[in-house]
Amino acid sequence: MFGRKKHSESPFSIKDTQKTLHKNLEFTATEQYKLLRTNLKFTLPDEDGCKIIGVTSSMRGEGKSTTAVNLSYVLAENGKKVLLIDGDLRIPSVAKKMEIDSSPGLTDLLRGDTKIDIASLRSPHLPNWYIMPSGALPPNPSELLGSKRMEAALKRLADIFDYIVVDLPPVNIVSDALAISQYITGIIVVIREEYTEKRELTTCFRQLKLSNANVLGCVMNSTSSGKGYYSKYRYKRYYKYYKTYGYYDSAGNS
Ligand SMILES: Nc1ncnc2c1ncn2[C@@H]1O[C@H](COP(=O)(O)OP(=O)(O)OP(=O)(O)O)[C@@H](O)[C@H]1O
Ligand SMILES: [Mg+2]
Repeated sequence: MFGRKKHSESPFSIKDTQKTLHKNLEFTATEQYKLLRTNLKFTLPDEDGCKIIGVTSSMRGEGKSTTAVNLSYVLAENGKKVLLIDGDLRIPSVAKKMEIDSSPGLTDLLRGDTKIDIASLRSPHLPNWYIMPSGALPPNPSELLGSKRMEAALKRLADIFDYIVVDLPPVNIVSDALAISQYITGIIVVIREEYTEKRELTTCFRQLKLSNANVLGCVMNSTSSGKGYYSKYRYKRYYKYYKTYGYYDSAGNS
């Protein structure tokens, strides 16, 4: 989704917060996100009420969170009342990208610990753009995202917002995205150019199909990084990935 940069600097050395539209992303990227918004409007007509859109991918580091932030921003920029939820309850990144506190957030809402005041979630960037960070990390993210409490929370939020965009973990590693798929309108799958593997993508779609998830489409996330950097990045990310998620069994116990 990002336009190619003319300079030789690796895109990964740019601060994360600069890759989001509210930080004035470059023109080409902005236009691509607007195109995504238009395509979504054709797929999900306005009259159908609140649309809850999950953003996932096959593996880590493919651009899910960046896409979720930017998509929610362009939807809000278009005048819709939009909530961005960080649904990655294992390695959340929305709060960091948005430079806000990670609590209170989704897990607090689900636990009923805090009465979250929706107005306090309003971002300073746009009056109709709201951000719900992850909150404190739970021991059982998958169960939480697939729970009746999650369903009830989304129903309540759907009465308030036109769009809810949920940033999710990758499908091939943990079942979280599949668990929540029953409660959301549809899922967008992010594919990273020269990074996502065909085999992983096939597995991802098979999993989504088995869970009866409504796949709305794919977003091709392009970068201009050189091959050398890519392989280094990839190795690091995958390593971190397995290291971090490896401690959870399928029941989410650590
Ligand atoms: N098109 C792009 N060009 C340059 N950098 C990018 C691009 N897309 C994402 N990035 C960067 O790559 C890193 C991973 O992106 P992001 O956090 O959006 O991925 P993710 O799929 O959410 O990762 P995770 O699986 O860890 O949650 C971030 O540092 C982000 O800023
Ligand atoms: Mg992410």
